[in-house]
Amino acid sequence: MNEFSIKNMDLFYGDFQALKKINLDIPKHQVTAFIGPSGCGKSTLLKSLNRMNDLVENCRIDGELLFEGENFYQKDYDANHLRKRVGMVFQQPNPFPMSIYDNITYGPRTHGIRDRKTLDEIVEKSLKQAAIWDEVKDDLKKNALRVSGGQQQRLCIARALAVNPDVLLMDEPTSALDPISTLKIEELVQQLKDQYTIIIVTHNMQQAARISDKTAFFLHGEVVEFDDTDKLFTNPKHEKTADYISGRFG
Ligand SMILES: Nc1ncnc2c1ncn2[C@@H]1O[C@H](COP(=O)(O)OP(=O)(O)OP(=O)(O)O)[C@@H](O)[C@H]1O
Ligand SMILES: [Mg+2]
Repeated sequence: MNEFSIKNMDLFYGDFQALKKINLDIPKHQVTAFIGPSGCGKSTLLKSLNRMNDLVENCRIDGELLFEGENFYQKDYDANHLRKRVGMVFQQPNPFPMSIYDNITYGPRTHGIRDRKTLDEIVEKSLKQAAIWDEVKDDLKKNALRVSGGQQQRLCIARALAVNPDVLLMDEPTSALDPISTLKIEELVQQLKDQYTIIIVTHNMQQAARISDKTAFFLHGEVVEFDDTDKLFTNPKHEKTADYISGRFG
């Protein structure tokens, strides 16, 4: 079963075509990695999956993009519904300048949840899911900007999970982190995929090989190869993929 189905997608920023004829089926409850050199369109595609590009002036998308079988670019599709189902975590941890507790309850409150006990439960559950509960449970009133970068990133994952999404989009979530925090996030991704569909952009090929089930290799706005991660890394079909994963360019 596919979470996303992308058919013949083209994306333009003004006259510049950033994505060309993308065809991808992203399976549910698996980890899909996007790899490829800088500027090849990984973030552009990732952001298209929760319509973050709506905010970019002169960005135009053609083709068919289905989420749970529905075209989420059709006129009457509710973008807020999509953004609730599809959460995102960025390269730089970006907690709000407020308490840990308020960071996590921000989304649920926006969706109308006010009951204190329910909010408490959401906070505990989300922080546990993001493997940071034990570190912050006695300090929930602390300003989220005053924890380490690795903790901030797990907090941002917890914040994304608090609205109970189906999908987690992660754009280079560990590139600003130390090796130990990186390992924690990688372990977390492995655990979360039982319940969530995860799409992760990474420049770290070992990371893609370690944690993803499927990998898409991008080059100049095109998907050169999309396959099971094991296969793509051990027996790539295309010479360009082989060159990239062996470090010959990019
Ligand atoms: N808002 C924008 N307006 C115009 N062009 C853009 C915009 N955002 C991205 N681009 C261009 O689209 C192409 C793809 O960019 P994108 O950010 O998707 O690449 P990427 O694969 O994520 O790169 P990186 O690995 O460096 O993050 C690049 O040529 C970039 O300059
Ligand atoms: Mg990017």
